[in-house]
This record gives sequence, structure tokens and C-alpha cells, in this order.
Amino acid sequence: MIKDSLADLAIFGGTPAFAEPVHVGQLNLPPWNEFEQAFNGIFDRRYFTNHGPLVQELDRRLAGYLGVRHVVCVTNATVALMVACKALDLDGEVIVPSFTFPATVQALFWAGLTPVFCDVDPATHNISAELAAPLVGARAAAILGVHAWGRAGDTAALQDLCARRGIHLFYDAAHGVGCTHDGRSLAAFGELAVFSFHATKILGSGEGGCLATDNDDLAQRIRTVRNFHVSESVARVPLRINGKMTEAQAAMGLLGLDHLPRWIQRNRELYERYRTWDSCRSLGGFVDYARGGQSNCQFCVFDIDSARFAMSRDQLQRLLRSENILARRYFFPGVHRLAPYCTLDPEAGARLRSTEALCGRLLQLPLGTGVTADCVDRITGVLDLCLRHGADIARRLPQEQA
Ligand SMILES: Cc1ncc(COP(=O)(O)O)c(C=O)c1O
Repeated sequence: MIKDSLADLAIFGGTPAFAEPVHVGQLNLPPWNEFEQAFNGIFDRRYFTNHGPLVQELDRRLAGYLGVRHVVCVTNATVALMVACKALDLDGEVIVPSFTFPATVQALFWAGLTPVFCDVDPATHNISAELAAPLVGARAAAILGVHAWGRAGDTAALQDLCARRGIHLFYDAAHGVGCTHDGRSLAAFGELAVFSFHATKILGSGEGGCLATDNDDLAQRIRTVRNFHVSESVARVPLRINGKMTEAQAAMGLLGLDHLPRWIQRNRELYERYRTWDSCRSLGGFVDYARGGQSNCQFCVFDIDSARFAMSRDQLQRLLRSENILARRYFFPGVHRLAPYCTLDPEAGARLRSTEALCGRLLQLPLGTGVTADCVDRITGVLDLCLRHGADIARRLPQEQA
């Protein structure tokens, strides 16, 4: 049903636009029969973990897909980042954006490092050399960049800064499977890059992640850190952990790789449908993936101009939720506002102007295999109604929702 009056909105008593919740992170799953066949193989071999044949195959196939010499699959991307810190033998401070998922910073903290929050460039949503340079002090060991939405920032300038200052550069590319920058996959930037295969990512293995690098020695150290087993000690590393991926995860990842081009294509079509929605042109609202490389279009990031909507991002989110459109604030809040960082660096917000602004404006809209073109049209239909009647809606919303 097309909604065209305020009374049609669910928040004012109308029927929700969707009978069932429509989520932001739609799961990309291989067909059950493929999964069952792969699992039968695991049970037949009775080989469930400890670098089994499927994990080794996934390491190999991902290395080919990402265009690097080494991929090491692990439990999840958070553990991958912890492994990275120890494989690089970091000590001291690491410059990192606050505009990221908490895991990026939590991994540093678990590795005994001190995060130094850097603001992001509002054009790329990533840190830049210009913003990071003043934060590189005597205790700086590395810069950990994040390719937010799988979009790279100014990688060459960051590389140059790190080389000049003699510090490491590595990347959290959790969002970036299937994305490129300057014709190369995101694994090509920094000494290593970490990818996530969490169920909500474009390539999912339930939980899962990997480290990708072209450096043979570093790959050996990564493999050593990933495995707690002393008898398999192959490189000198400061600390080890159990970060092994299971065969079940690898089976899902391998099947996902076969379906990945189709999932990316579907995301692109849906993203284009949002982007070419008539009102979008006047709002200039969607984060653009056209610059620098190809995108997996995993995220439909809507930058809310609250002046045009006459309501805040948070009001719009509540309104969409009442329609069963589970739009999500992401990233929110900036990591500097979370414990323990908010106590350790309570003034950080004053330095992180763009981070604060983006955390207050961005909204993720549903995308992925569970979303159809018709879903997108119904979602943009609700947004159109909000655009036309924003001031009236804001006035009628209960006070606590203002
Ligand atoms: C930027 C970023 N880094 C790290 C992670 C953590 O990934 P995982 O869930 O695989 O540990 C996420 C998860 O969403 C993320 O968005």
C-alpha cells in the first residue's frame, strides 16, 4: 500500500509498511543442500578444526580472490586484529579512528596498546594523513586505518606518513570483501588487512575473519600467533592465542565465495534503486561509492539532512522502526564515547568534530538478499512522506520522541 497521509504512518496508528521486520544486515546464505553436502564431508572426514582441509582451501581461494600471497583465516575479525597487533609486535600507541565499530579499538586494548583517536575526513569517513600526522608522537607504534563501508581513503598519503615516521600501517577492512581501490583489492594496502566474515557481512561464515598480507615473514608470524600450540612454534612472537577457524566456518565461507558475485550484483542493483529515488537527488543523501574503485555495496548509508526532513535522524529512525523498517544508526556512538575510553580520554569529543557529526547523522537502510526492489520502493515511499510532512510529523510525535 502506498502511504500518502500522516494517518497512514504506523507511529500514528496506521498499518506498518511491512508485516515482518526488514533488517539492515540481510543474511547471505548458500542453499541448504550445498551446506548439507559440505557438512556431510566434514563428518565423513571427522576433521573439525586445527587447520583442516576446508580452512586450507579457504586460505588459498581467498588469497587468489584478494590478490595477495597469504591469507590466514581465523575465528573472527576481532581476533584477527588482536593477532595482527602481536604479529607486528606493536608496543605503545596506535592511531585509530573513533568512527568505527567498537571491536577495532577493543582489539588494540586487549593487545595492551593505547588507542589514540583520530578524526575522520567527512568526504571519505576515513582517517587521513593530514589528521593523523599531529597525533604521531614518540610512543606511536602504528596507524590502524579502517576502510569504512569498504571505501578506502587516501592510502598513499598514509603510507608515506608511516614510512617517514617509521611506524607500521595496517587496516581494518572488515567491510571490504569484494571492494577495490585503484584497481586492487583492499588487501593490497598497508602491511596487512583484516576482513570479517560475520554473518551480517557480504561473505559470511557465521563468525569468521582473515588476515591478508604479501609479506612472507609476517604471514609466518601471523600463523604462529593464531595457534596456541607450542610444538608448532615456527616464528618468534611475543604472545599467542587460539584464533583457529573451524571446518564448519570454512565450509560456509567457501560456498559463500561461489555465490559472492551474485550477492554483490544484487546489492548494487538495490543500492542504485535507493540512489536514483527521485527525492534522493535533491537530498544528495546516500554515501557514494563511485570514487576510486568498485564497491560490494553492502551498506546503504543515508546521510540525513535534518533541515530538509524537519526532524532528527533519531526521530526518523523511530518512525521507520514503527513501520518495521529496522534502519540502524551505524557507527553510533563514536568509540571515544564508550567505556573505558570515555573515562580515559573524556575530552576526545572536542577533537573529533567530524566523527561526532557523522555519528549523529548517518542511518543504514535495509539491503541484501532478503530485500527486493519492491521493498526499496516502499521504504523510499515512507521517506517521501516524511520529507513532505516532516514539520507536521515532528510536531505530532510524543514529546519523549522529539
Ligand atoms: C569495522 C569493523 N571492524 C571489526 C569488526 C568485527 O568483526 P567480527 O564481528 O568479525 O569480529 C566489525 C564488525 O562489524 C566492523 O564493522
